[in-house]
Amino acid sequence: MRSMTLPRLLASFLLVPAALTTAAEQPARDARKIYAEFCASCHGANMEGGSAPSLVSGQWRYGGDDAALSTSIRNGRPQNGMPGFGATVSEKEIRGLVVFINEQAGQASSRRTPAPSPSADTVATGKLHSFRVETVVSGLREPYAIAFQPDGLVLITEKRGTLRVVEKGVLRPEPVSGLPAVDSGGQGGLFDVVLHPDFARNGWIYLAFSDQLKTEPNRGAVMTTLIRGRLKGNTWTDQQIIFRAPEETFRHGGNHFGGRLAFDKNNFLFFSIGERGNQVDAQNLTLPNGKIHRLHDDGRVPVDNPFLKTPGAIPSIWSYGHRNPQGLRFHPVTGELWEHEHGPRGGDELNIIQRGLNYGWPLATFGMNYNGTPITDVTARPDIQPPITYWLPSIAPCGLAIYTGDRFPKWKNQLFVSSLAAQELRRLEVKDGKVIDQEIIFKGLGRLRDVANGPDGLLYVLLQDRVARLAPAAE
Ligand code: HEC
Repeated sequence: MRSMTLPRLLASFLLVPAALTTAAEQPARDARKIYAEFCASCHGANMEGGSAPSLVSGQWRYGGDDAALSTSIRNGRPQNGMPGFGATVSEKEIRGLVVFINEQAGQASSRRTPAPSPSADTVATGKLHSFRVETVVSGLREPYAIAFQPDGLVLITEKRGTLRVVEKGVLRPEPVSGLPAVDSGGQGGLFDVVLHPDFARNGWIYLAFSDQLKTEPNRGAVMTTLIRGRLKGNTWTDQQIIFRAPEETFRHGGNHFGGRLAFDKNNFLFFSIGERGNQVDAQNLTLPNGKIHRLHDDGRVPVDNPFLKTPGAIPSIWSYGHRNPQGLRFHPVTGELWEHEHGPRGGDELNIIQRGLNYGWPLATFGMNYNGTPITDVTARPDIQPPITYWLPSIAPCGLAIYTGDRFPKWKNQLFVSSLAAQELRRLEVKDGKVIDQEIIFKGLGRLRDVANGPDGLLYVLLQDRVARLAPAAE
């Protein structure tokens, strides 16, 4: 018979299930602390290796994917001197360690292979195309989104709540007047700007913004609201509210607004609202936050929306279980609705949005809390739509474009993702619903809030204080 530890022996006498005495019942600990306590002595304080191999060299004996890492930690490789931690570290905590190791490994790998960081007039060499980053408009403050009118005017939202117009290449000094008050505290602000597909005929411009209640009982609470209006000269006119949530559902705090919108071929309008920092709200269909919504262009609810028969559900909901979706665009060829969302540490996701489905937050995620404690060890569930991919370390995605131009032929129909924390522009090549190639196009030019197709076939990016575009290097 195997020898028993004293607590286990006692537990078996008292007929207490052994599980009750294991780590699973303890409050989950910070991954960095667990690492320092249980792993650093062999793998090195910074995972650089010691008596045990480095965990950040990019080379794995048993495979560097999540499942292999979890198995190594849970079961150990006792014959080779790696103890198993399944009895002392809970499944949630193992998940935290996997995120932490991946973060460290990812950072080490980006130090080994730095991405281009092109300054003005230098050529950056990418995998498929070389390019220059040219400044198009400067003098902006935290531009959030960009839209190109067919008559040549360019509209740019700024986070602080202002809409700017560029006319014949020159930024109008005054922002557009007549816009509603925008609460730009925290992550709040003026978000996406999108033109009606029939803009040339009807002139409708759509905006999403964080809308703060000025009256009791919920004074100060904020939610993402959607409006449309027209531009006359430099004035916002004809405003209509397209979506405004019931006031009792507005939330306090300045996090996770979503705020992206996209039209499909049939003029249905899709838009995202983040969970506003209230994780469980994302699963609650009676609340607007943590959802992708779908409406007619004038705000009417389509008769075939998925939750019309669900008692109490917000009728515009199209999909749920989202944390903070800040990228939402239709694929020009497949017609799929691509979305990315800003997850917790290690949980940024890329998804294809489908009618009525649950995308899992916070029941299943690849991420952990910012303080290093786990959220859950559940990364997948049969009733939950898995992401196409996720980013670990997190990049904090904000802005998505699927390249439609012809100036960079090899980029055609590929995904471009801009990011805040990682300050990079990524290219993703997708085949049969899988990401088969990923490249950091550039890095280190500051936080990026959006990437967009220009009418000239070039790719535009929004930097902290300007709009720039990527132009082929040969020209
Ligand atoms: C007593 C020393 C020791 C401690 C403590 C230790 N390890 Fe290990 N670990 C090893 C050795 C030795 C190996 C190599 C085993 C092999 O090659 O079969 C290893 C292998 C691994 C691997 C597999 C690496 C690969 O190339 O596939 C992972 C992952 C890992 N350890 C993580 C951890 C974590 C996380 C902790 C703390 C919870 C930890 N280790 C604690 C000694 C240790």
